[in-house]
Amino acid sequence: MTTRRVFSGIQPSGDIHIGNYMGALRNWVAMQDEYATVYCVVDLHALTLPQDPAELARARVRTAKILLAAGIDPGRSLVYYQSQVPQHAELSWIMGTFASMGQLGRMTQYKEKEDKGGQNLGLFSYPVLMAADILIHRVHAVPVGNDQTQHLEFTRDLVDRFNSRYGNFFPVPEQITPPVGARVMSLKDPTSKMSKSDPDPSSRIIVTDDTDTIVTKVRRAVTDSGKLVAYDVERKPGISNLLDILSAFTGRSVHELAEEYRSAGYGRFKQTVAEAVISGLSPVRRAYLDLDDHDVERIMSEGAEAARTRAEETMAGVRSLIGLSQDN
Ligand code: AMP
Ligand code: TRP
Repeated sequence: MTTRRVFSGIQPSGDIHIGNYMGALRNWVAMQDEYATVYCVVDLHALTLPQDPAELARARVRTAKILLAAGIDPGRSLVYYQSQVPQHAELSWIMGTFASMGQLGRMTQYKEKEDKGGQNLGLFSYPVLMAADILIHRVHAVPVGNDQTQHLEFTRDLVDRFNSRYGNFFPVPEQITPPVGARVMSLKDPTSKMSKSDPDPSSRIIVTDDTDTIVTKVRRAVTDSGKLVAYDVERKPGISNLLDILSAFTGRSVHELAEEYRSAGYGRFKQTVAEAVISGLSPVRRAYLDLDDHDVERIMSEGAEAARTRAEETMAGVRSLIGLSQDN
């Protein structure tokens, strides 16, 4: 049996938070044992919102460093910056000709960002580039948080259209979402997801936050009325989110934890959550501080070189199928 291939991407905008870590990154690391894995810092996607060039350059390296610090092993995974492999953008153009404008206009992520005043063609066609990222490596599975479900459905629709016209060239990629931590909520508004772009930095815990910062953020997290620790997403969204976080960091079920901390009081419960987060993140933070920017950039360039070779094989196949090759 051939090894199944996996691709995922993360934007280098802002800092990587525990939602990214639980929803995506931790899973990416684990999958290296079983799959042929490709992970990408999707810097072209970040351009869909205005970016300061110097800050974008720094954020790219920081993001790459976090991937490596979290345990992405360049010996086992291909890891690189999207913009260094131009085939992503080339395939995106081709896949765009299969995309339905109506479907693109209905994407939640597009509508949210459009509402915030970020209207541009890149934002509208963002899911097409994401599909191209996945398809350029012809992968079977994509590990992401559950905010990406619509984009994955869209990708499968493009594959169906392409394959039905040209034969079964692309595998239909399946989504892999972790059982806990697939949607970590904001610490300040537990009814919306923890996000890099939230203007309030205390709404999220950054993977590289130090001990005091984590304690303070958890202590100030919004909780619900009442005194009992209970898992009830409707009526106790704040406490339930903290239970989810504790569960993700300890591997214990939310129900078992809710039972154990039921009468502990919010203060002691939050202290426990903070300690679990601190001990879970501390190896990543230490590895991050030890990494050197130049080494990281070298690893990313080597990854890009290998990725270009593979991506070019896919593009040669695509060009030939659609009539853009001299072999036709
Ligand atoms: P992004 O921050 O949009 O680049 O997302 C990178 C990865 O993290 C994607 O797989 C997302 O689905 C995942 N992700 C982002 N925010 C969250 C969250 N609050 N909870 C769980 N997963 C998330
Ligand atoms: N759209 C994803 C996000 O916002 C990032 C991303 C870009 C991605 N290309 C991808 C994720 C390909 C998985 C596969 O989180």
